[in-house]
Amino acid sequence: MSTPNISAGSVIPGEQHPVEYRRVYVWELPVRVYHWINAVALVVLCVTGFLIGAPVSAFYAPEAYQQYWFGWVRFLHFAAAFVYVFNFAARIYWGFVGNQYSSWRAFFPFKRSQQQEIVDVIKADVLETKMHGPISTGHNSLAGLIYFFTFLAFVFQTITGFALYSSMSNSWLPRMFTWIVPLMGGEFSVRFWHHLFLWFFVTFIIIHIYLAFYHDYIEGRGTVSSIIGGWKFDREKKTK
Ligand code: HEM
Ligand code: HEM
Repeated sequence: MSTPNISAGSVIPGEQHPVEYRRVYVWELPVRVYHWINAVALVVLCVTGFLIGAPVSAFYAPEAYQQYWFGWVRFLHFAAAFVYVFNFAARIYWGFVGNQYSSWRAFFPFKRSQQQEIVDVIKADVLETKMHGPISTGHNSLAGLIYFFTFLAFVFQTITGFALYSSMSNSWLPRMFTWIVPLMGGEFSVRFWHHLFLWFFVTFIIIHIYLAFYHDYIEGRGTVSSIIGGWKFDREKKTK
């Protein structure tokens, strides 16, 4: 048997019908810019946060002139925190004015079809008991729901971060969070939760990057390049 040539409009091995590809503009520029600013800011926050939380870090200074290095680590953490918070606020705004793929609705599986898609994705990608059915053009509904939980974690980390910052700053933004510290049982407890969530983000980033490449490979629709250039490819059954 000869190997089929896999190009747009041709037969895919294991498929009974020829398919055609439609090029769709999925991620608008503001979503892509948000994504990469967020990715860089979160990596900086995780690395600097880890160093702040590591007990020996503050004392590590092989030479006297390097003693301010910990100050720079904290400065980077706070600078990245402000970038990350305003960038996230811009993404929330875009959820109301952007296209259907970036809409806030994509993150809540209210519709029956979205709930069915969650079950299908779990069966196909996690349990591997089913072949993939139709695949969403934007986020699949399970990914959308997981991003929603991630956004909740963003909010939690912002609240606990600014609560910690409120005792070190006189500016209005951190001062708005002063009351969180007694509410959560004191600074030690806020610090504990803020630290714990570091590991949520580390886990998310590792799995997320793995899944981006996994879907790119399995679906062949340009998933990874879509978050750079904005375009994805939708497979369509040939009508003739
Ligand atoms: C390093 C930290 C990263 C973080 C924190 C992160 C976070 C996110 C978030 C929150 C979204 C949802 C976007 C939205 O609609 O608002 C997203 C989407 C996406 N990210 Fe990332 N990302 C990271 C790195 C990467 C990398 C390195 C790649 C590519 C290799 C990538 C590929 C994608 C793709 C393709 C989507 C759209 C996926 C979909 O259809 O659901 N991300 N990312
Ligand atoms: C979203 C991702 C973030 C991660 C992963 C993260 C991680 C961390 C970690 C692990 C620590 C060390 C806690 C400890 O002492 O064990 C820390 C400290 C801190 N973080 Fe964050 N953080 C994030 C966002 C923020 C934000 C948005 C702010 C807001 C300003 C913030 C402000 C602070 C402050 C003030 C400290 C204490 C610094 C010190 O006492 O020297 N963080 N962060």
